[in-house]
Amino acid sequence: MGFRVTLNFFLFVLFASLCLNARAESSGSVVFLEGSSGKYLRNQPLDSDGERTPISVSEVTGVASVLLGFAPDSSLAIESSSKLNNILTPNPFERPHAVFLLEVSGLDDVDYSKLQVQTVIKDKLVGSKGLMHLPGEEVLVTKIEESLDGECNSACLDKEFTYLSNFLEGSYSGSVATEDGKLALPLASGGALYLHVAKEAELHFASSLAALVRGINMGVEFHGDLAGTGFNPAELITGRFTGFKALIEEHGNSEILQQGVEIFQTTISKLFEILNRSYEGKIVGVLIYNKESGMVEVASSARISRWLEETSISTDNSTTASEVKLVRRSLAWITGIILLISTLIGVCMLMNMPLTRDTLLYSNVKLD
Ligand SMILES: *[C@@H]1O[C@H](CO)[C@@H](O)[C@H](O)[C@H]1NC(C)=O
Ligand SMILES: *[C@@H]1O[C@H](CO)[C@@H](O)[C@H](O)[C@H]1NC(C)=O
Repeated sequence: MGFRVTLNFFLFVLFASLCLNARAESSGSVVFLEGSSGKYLRNQPLDSDGERTPISVSEVTGVASVLLGFAPDSSLAIESSSKLNNILTPNPFERPHAVFLLEVSGLDDVDYSKLQVQTVIKDKLVGSKGLMHLPGEEVLVTKIEESLDGECNSACLDKEFTYLSNFLEGSYSGSVATEDGKLALPLASGGALYLHVAKEAELHFASSLAALVRGINMGVEFHGDLAGTGFNPAELITGRFTGFKALIEEHGNSEILQQGVEIFQTTISKLFEILNRSYEGKIVGVLIYNKESGMVEVASSARISRWLEETSISTDNSTTASEVKLVRRSLAWITGIILLISTLIGVCMLMNMPLTRDTLLYSNVKLD
């Protein structure tokens, strides 16, 4: 009897550790997008067996760092560095300094052949986490929100859904407030995807999609703002798309999920076209597909974004801009005048100093 219990226990431990292992080594895939073929990424498999070996998440973040013009994380192993060489073109002066990095959670693989982008390279992904350390002052990070739920009220959601449906050549009717809002997004394969705002999962999917479009538009806008300043930081547009997770939790692997994937592909290729145009081809897209979420963590200070917001606010509104200028100028004048007066007072006092031997000044001299 005791033997059976021990055996059961042993089997249980074995099973649990296998499960844990499977969790730690969750697999997925990564897709690299580029506007013109072979400029920043090699598109030939270089491995001896002609197959591309799987890539780890930390290698993906390493590739993204190098594309931005920084060294990859120092913890990356030697084999990983050679892996990076297999993905990136060898010329270190040919880096786009702009990356669009999106983590897509809920799906570990998609049919990427439908993406209408010049270069698409797909690799299998292994490992579970990757950290990207970025020097805060030299990189502008634009964050794509996971959804609009937090910051958008129903009127704002209606506006964003109308924008999204126009962007995807579909339509939006009804409203969020009256819970009869309905998005109809045409599919390339015919038919349409219908998303009802009254259904939570569909609302979340639509909201994630709208947040993605808004995030990219914001990145493009920041890029345009930078163009006039003569200030050229690296640019990273990054975020996480959780729309599929919501659909899967609600409907499983159903028709609506497949249609959602198709709409997502269309959205990505349209967005990448916009990015490619506004960055004049100097941008690489990296899509990380995984069942889990939270694989990539970007660590950087947001100093530039704040600086940029400040300048864009002051150029947007001429009254506040002139006020800010006035305050700054008066501050400079006041400081100058105070400095001048104190210098004059100091000189006067020096001139009128009594010429006795000061014990403080001549502390080392023995007075007689
Ligand atoms: C991306 O932009 C570059 C440079 O402007 C252009 O040559 C290329 O054709 C574009 N690629 C796509 C797919 O539009
Ligand atoms: C600037 O902002 C103020 C108040 O914030 C507003 O009254 C004014 O109309 C704005 N000016 C411009 C040019 O937008």
